[in-house]
Amino acid sequence: MSLWGGRFIKDNNVEFKKFNDSLKIDYKLVEEDIKVSISWSYMLYTINVINFKEYNIIFKNLNLILNKVKNNKSLILKSNEEDIHSWVEKQLVMNIGYLGKKLNTGKSRNEQITTDLKLWCKKKIKEMIIIIKKLQISFLNLAYNNKNVIFPGYTHLQRAQPITFAHWCFSYVEMINRDINRLKKILKRLDYNPMGSGALSGITYKIDRDLIAFILGFSKSTNNSLDAVSDRDYVIDIINSASIGMIHLSRLAEDLIFFNTNEVGYISLSDRFTSGSSLMPQKKNPDILELIRGKCGRVQGSLNNILFILKGLPLSYNKDMQEDKKCLFDAIKTWKDCINITNIILKNIKLNYKKCKKSIFYGYLNATELADYLVNKGIAFREAHDITGKIVLEAIKKNISLEKLKLYEMKKFNNIINIDIYKYLDAYSCLDKRNIKGGVSSNQIKIYLKKKIKKIYIK
Ligand code: ARG
Repeated sequence: MSLWGGRFIKDNNVEFKKFNDSLKIDYKLVEEDIKVSISWSYMLYTINVINFKEYNIIFKNLNLILNKVKNNKSLILKSNEEDIHSWVEKQLVMNIGYLGKKLNTGKSRNEQITTDLKLWCKKKIKEMIIIIKKLQISFLNLAYNNKNVIFPGYTHLQRAQPITFAHWCFSYVEMINRDINRLKKILKRLDYNPMGSGALSGITYKIDRDLIAFILGFSKSTNNSLDAVSDRDYVIDIINSASIGMIHLSRLAEDLIFFNTNEVGYISLSDRFTSGSSLMPQKKNPDILELIRGKCGRVQGSLNNILFILKGLPLSYNKDMQEDKKCLFDAIKTWKDCINITNIILKNIKLNYKKCKKSIFYGYLNATELADYLVNKGIAFREAHDITGKIVLEAIKKNISLEKLKLYEMKKFNNIINIDIYKYLDAYSCLDKRNIKGGVSSNQIKIYLKKKIKKIYIK
């Protein structure tokens, strides 16, 4: 029988029951649900609904139930119960009889499901922060192992200025650092205990809400019972974090797909992480990266799901909200899988040093240096830009790089240019002149690496 069967004369239609039940999704919350139930039974003891001996029996048996399924949660799925709350209560009554029927005193599933879900989100956020940090460490290692590799930085997918591979790695360390900070903020925002809100309007039992908040690991209790049972902002927040995190991974995937093309070949992916074509024997495809890019779309879909589920929902609890878990679980799992696989990719990337270096000499990446050189000699930047543009055009006509132009050829455009220009045009000097916080010079790379290693390992 269901938890609410009393006022029903007929059994549920089989199709309706299948449609309505949520056990096949929310069974994953069994640990959280039992934790909440144990703390609730303690609250019942504090207000004398049960005595200490009875509390102990409930405590022991709820733990026994948890231990039975902890390592194989799918055992729960053999049951025909409506949801995880009904399943736990049913198991308890089966174990301890009539006393088990007291567990639900003053407790509603509306408050319990959101409490379970908040606890689950807290657990997952902590896990996600750890694996994002691992990814940062892989980027730092990759940067350290290739710290002298120079290659083109791009804008509009056109070669723009020389950068180092380490500098590129650090840009992703920064990007995913924001993912960590975003998650940390969510931890603070969801840190309110809903238990004690009842179905929607609070409860008549005088439990100490701050005590149950403390037992469950929340720092405070919610301030309004209607809001408490209907708030799913934290679900939006966490899926939103997953969406942004996946955007970051898909941009990384796209960078790596490009670096791995036959056209540029800055990196090569190992045979172990690429696949072939069933028709074209020569192919070695970066499917792994394309999948990350594709899965990003799925997570954006989950964000849309939760936003549309909640849009226009009247207060307070509505069954629509049961649909929140599928997209939440899928988004977090997909994000987690993609971070883990990205980490493996990073550990196995091989740089093609020759191709990286060679690419610097095509595409006039040192044109800005020529303009800056002219500025240093007193020419206004706009004019310097114009002169440099004309010199670049000349080099393009001759099909050579800027530094291959003879001095007299450059002088034709402005006589102020002297032999010291060649020092300016050297790719490594382009890097080291950018010795400014966040810049690409080897000095800044050293400073960044030291700072980050300290932060990531010590925190
Ligand atoms: N299974 C529901 C959910 O996931 C929780 C129970 C909701 N309460 C109710 N009265 N149906 O949202």
